[in-house]
Order: sequence, then structure tokens, then C-alpha cells
Amino acid sequence: MKTQLLLPGTDTYALASEILENGGLVAFPTETVYGLGANALDRDAVLSIFAAKGRPADNPLIVHIYDRKQLEPLCEVPEQALPLMDSFWPGPLTILCHRKPAIPDQVTAGLPTVAVRMPSHPVARAMLQACSLPIAAPSANSSGRPSPTTAAHVMEDMDGKIPLIIDGGMCDVGVESTVLDLCHGSPVILRPGGITREMISSVLNCDVAVAGSVLRPLRKNEKALSPGMRYRHYAPRAVVTLVQGPEDRVVPLLQKLCLEQEAQGKKTCVLCFSEHINLLSACHPHDIGSSGSPAEIAHRLFDVLRRLDDEGMEMVFSEVVPPEGVGLAVMNRLGRAASFRTIQA
Ligand code: TXA
Ligand code: MG
Repeated sequence: MKTQLLLPGTDTYALASEILENGGLVAFPTETVYGLGANALDRDAVLSIFAAKGRPADNPLIVHIYDRKQLEPLCEVPEQALPLMDSFWPGPLTILCHRKPAIPDQVTAGLPTVAVRMPSHPVARAMLQACSLPIAAPSANSSGRPSPTTAAHVMEDMDGKIPLIIDGGMCDVGVESTVLDLCHGSPVILRPGGITREMISSVLNCDVAVAGSVLRPLRKNEKALSPGMRYRHYAPRAVVTLVQGPEDRVVPLLQKLCLEQEAQGKKTCVLCFSEHINLLSACHPHDIGSSGSPAEIAHRLFDVLRRLDDEGMEMVFSEVVPPEGVGLAVMNRLGRAASFRTIQA
């Protein structure tokens, strides 16, 4: 199959709608990462998403909408979700709702809940409006690779597998949406993202829990609240290790670890804050953004992780940020890239 890469515009949206109505797949930009969309009500179309990504069938998909009215036939919205939708939609917040029968099992992986989100990216909105279908869309990467934040990343993984990629430039947030469960008692963040625990808590006026496996590996026999948490994710081929501690000890330790590995013949680099690039110039430093700006780090992170593979890196040592605000999403993704391997400086 030839994959067309098109800029947004009326003709592109018309073509996207035609493909989606006929059961095909379209990759499109959202404010978080690129999505791989299909008509959420067409089970064969949904199945072809799993095939294109190589995604395990037991990992459910998020349904994307343009207008809240579209939810009516799809799910029951929990009461607590309403003020959150008022505050954060359109935007990077996904909410679990009780599904109705119209949603195929393939979307929810047989779960009684369906994840829904209204993206804010103008291209996603224009496409969703043009086709007026609820669109099931996971991130548009091959399963196991970092989510794509540019059309070029999508092309790397999906060339020849899908008919259309809409190029909307680089995604703003850079990590996937916050996934929030309001269906099983008090609110729990299953996956942290651009809408932070602090933001949700201030709207709901209550504490918001974070699933334990966000900052550590799943324990043996522990049930994943979100099936996606079971899978190896965001991981480059290199062995990644996080280095934690006071700045004046982290930087020299990064340098030491990197040089030791290089001496053993391993292709090695460091992921560090912009402020430390000069200090670590002997260690192939990759700039993850300023230490004071977790949002900037989130924005760049997946592009940096993808480049490690292109460069054939074998060992990678990375700085960390405090797990607060958007920093929690950064540490979840970096932690999983490192299988939560951490050294204390
Ligand atoms: O920002 C995003 O959310 C992007 C863009 C394209 O919207 N999408 C995305 O989808 O990241 P995906 O499929 O890569 O991640 C969806 C996550 C998975 O971890 C999945 O297990 C979880 O949401 N999920 C979906 N439905 C669920 C449900 N009913 N219960 C629990 N977790 C669910
Ligand atoms: Mg994904």
C-alpha cells in the first residue's frame, strides 16, 4: 500500500473522511502525540489498527470525539467527569466511562468501560468534525516503540501499512493524554499526562490517587488497572539507566558512568538538561530540555528516545526530574524506558 503524507486542508479532510467511512486508517496529529484512527463503530476497521501496530488485542483503545453530544450513544458519563470536561476539554485528558452496547468489544478489549477524549489540536478537530464519526485511535507507533510526535516518526513505523498520514508538525505536549478512572470509586490516574494530578484535584476538590505502577514496574501477579501498563513501552533498544541525586553529584557520576561504558566498547550517551550540555560534552549529550521545564522535556522526550535507536546507542544514562506536575508524566515514560533501573548519586 502506498502511504500518502499530506498537509492539512479541505481536500485532505475530505480524503480522510472517505477513508475512515470505508473502514480505513488515517494517522493524524493531536496535541499529545500522533494517533492512528479508525471508525470506532466498525469492528473490522478497529481490528486493522491492531494489525498495523502489532498491538496485543487485550489493550483497549481511546475513542476520540469532536462534540460531547457524540458520547450519548457510546457511554454513560460519570457525574464527576462533567466539571473535568468543562475545565479540560478539548485537551489532553482521557476519561473512563461506562460503555454502552454500540461500542464494539474490540475497542474496549472486552472491559465494561470505554476511554474517551476530545483532543484540542486544530487538525484533529477539523478531521473529527469532517467525518463526524467517533474515532478509535491509539498512538500511531508500532507497538513497543516510543509514541510518534512528528509525521516523520509515523512514517518510520507505518509506511506501506496505512493509506494516509496528515502532517500537522510536531505535537505540542509530546506525551500521551492523562488517563483518569472515575468508574471504580475515588479518582485514580492510570497514566499521567499533560493534565496533571494537581489540576484534576483542584477541580474535583478531592485527592486524586496515582496508580502504583506509574513509577515502578508491575509486581508479579499485580493486576494492571490499565492494560497498556503491562507492556514494554517507550523503550529504545539501548539499556537506559536513570541517575538521581543532587546536581553537583549527578553530573560527575553521569560522566564517570559514560566513560566507563565507552572504555568497554559500548556505544554510550547521556540524556541531560540543557544547562549541563557543556559540562558533559565528552559524553555525547542529548539535550532533553531545561531542568526547570518538565513541559519542555515532555515535548522533546519521545523524539530523543527515537534518535537513540537511529544512532545505535547501547548504553544510556539520564538525568531525572521531580515527579510532580507534568514531571510525573515525564518520569513515568523515562522510568519505563529504563525499566525503572535507577542509580543514586
Ligand atoms: O494522547 C493520547 O491518549 C493518544 C492520542 C492519539 O490521543 N492516544 C494514546 O492511545 O496514547 P494508546 O492506545 O497508545 O494508549 C491508551 C491507553 C492504554 O494504556 C490503554 O491500556 C488505556 O489507555 N485504556 C484504554 N481504554 C481503557 C479502559 N477501558 N480501561 C483502562 N485503560 C484503558
Ligand atoms: Mg500507545
